[in-house]
Amino acid sequence: MAESNSNNTSGIPSVMKAAQQNGYGDARNVLTLRDDVPVPRELSSKQILVRVHAASINPVDWKVLNGNMSLITRFSFPHIPGKDVAGVIVDVGSGVKRFQVGDKVYGNLGMSDGSFAEYARADESAFAIKPNNLTMEEAAAIPLACETSYQALFTKISPPIGEGSKVLICGGSTATGLYAVQLAKAVGAYVTTTCSQRNFGLLEKLGYKTSQTTADQNQVHIIDYNEKDFGKELKGQNYDVVYDCVGGQQQWTSAQEVLKRNGQFITIVGDDTKSVLSVKAIASVGSSIVNRKFWSVFGSLHHNYIMHFLIPNFQNLNDMRTKYIETGKVKPIIDTVFDWRKDGVESLYSLYEKSKSGKAQGKLILKIADEE
Ligand SMILES: NC(=O)c1ccc[n+]([C@@H]2O[C@H](COP(=O)([O-])OP(=O)(O)OC[C@H]3O[C@@H](n4cnc5c(N)ncnc54)[C@H](OP(=O)(O)O)[C@@H]3O)[C@@H](O)[C@H]2O)c1
Repeated sequence: MAESNSNNTSGIPSVMKAAQQNGYGDARNVLTLRDDVPVPRELSSKQILVRVHAASINPVDWKVLNGNMSLITRFSFPHIPGKDVAGVIVDVGSGVKRFQVGDKVYGNLGMSDGSFAEYARADESAFAIKPNNLTMEEAAAIPLACETSYQALFTKISPPIGEGSKVLICGGSTATGLYAVQLAKAVGAYVTTTCSQRNFGLLEKLGYKTSQTTADQNQVHIIDYNEKDFGKELKGQNYDVVYDCVGGQQQWTSAQEVLKRNGQFITIVGDDTKSVLSVKAIASVGSSIVNRKFWSVFGSLHHNYIMHFLIPNFQNLNDMRTKYIETGKVKPIIDTVFDWRKDGVESLYSLYEKSKSGKAQGKLILKIADEE
C-alpha cells in the first residue's frame, strides 16, 4: 500500500472502538464491541480515512450477519460490520482527487470493513459530500436506502418515473419506501402506497396529505395492507410502475391486476423476504425470474418484471444531495438513535434486533461521535 498524504494526522489514535463480527449468527452470539481495534492507518492512493460520526443499519446488515448471504459474501473474521456512514475525512491517499481532509462526507462502504467503528477506511468512490442541511445522524440515514430507491425509480426502469406517472409503492413505511414516496412526489408522480395504520402518521410527518380513497398530485393514497389487497382495491387502474420494497410472491401477483399493458414491476426483495441465498434458493429464484421475464415478453399484458440490486455510485449520492435533499424534497425519518458510548454493546444488539423485527418506523442510527 502507498503511504497516505502527509496531512496533519497526528490526532488520529492507533486504536479505536469498533464492533467486530466473529462468525455468522445472531448479533448476541457473534458481535463484540472492542476498544482496541487498530485504526486502519495505511491508505492506498485512492482511499480515504473517515472519522465516523454516525452510521445506520439496513436489513442487509443482519442478513449478512446471520450468514444468509454467505454464499456470495465471505468475510475473514473479525470483520467490522456496517455500510451507511457519515463523518469527517481525517486522511487521504496520495491519488485522492475529489476530497480533502476536513470534508464532511456520507457514503456506503459496501461489503468491505464497515462503519460501526470510530474510523472507517474505503475507496473515495464510496463517498460524496454530505448534504449541508442534515446532521451527521440524518446524513447516515440516507445512502443505502435512498440510493436503492433512486436507482429503482430513475435509472433501472425505462422509462423512469416522472410527472404524471402512476406509481404504487409496496411498503410506504419501509426506509426504502419512505424515500421512494418522496422521490416520486418530487417529480410529480401520482403515488399510492401500502402501509399499516400505525404508520400512516409517518407520511403525514413528511408533510403529505393522505387519503384512503384516491391518488392525486396533492396527496398520497394509502392502502392499509392489513385490511385490503391492493390488487383488488386498484384492479384495472393502469399503474405505470409498481415498486416493491416488501417482497413475497403476493406483491407480484397483485401487481399484475393494477399495472397497465407494458407496465413495470420492480422489486428490491423478490419472493424470499429473508434473502437466504442457498444454491437451491438461487436456482428457484432464477427460474421464477426467467418465467416472469418470459411472460413479460409473450404474455398478453407484457408486464415487465425487474429485480433490482443497488450498485453504489457516488454520482447518485451527489444528485440525491443537490436535487432532492438540499432542496428539502427528500428528508430522512429516524426511528431511534442508539449510542454505544452510553449503552455499550447492548446498543449494538438493540440496533440489530430492531432492524430484524421488521417493525422499524424509519431509519435506525448508531451514533458514534458528537459533531464538532
Ligand atoms: N435489493 C437491494 O439493493 C435492497 C436495498 C435496500 C433494501 N433492500 C431490501 O428491502 C427490504 C426493505 O428494506 P428497508 O430497510 O426499506 O425496510 P425497513 O425499514 O426495515 O422496513 C420496516 C417497515 O416495513 C413495514 N412492513 C412490514 N411488512 C410490511 C408489508 N407486508 N407491507 C407493507 N409494509 C410492511 C413495517 O411496518 P408494519 O409492519 O407496521 O407495516 C416497518 O415500518 C428489505 O428486505 C431489504 O433487505 C434491498
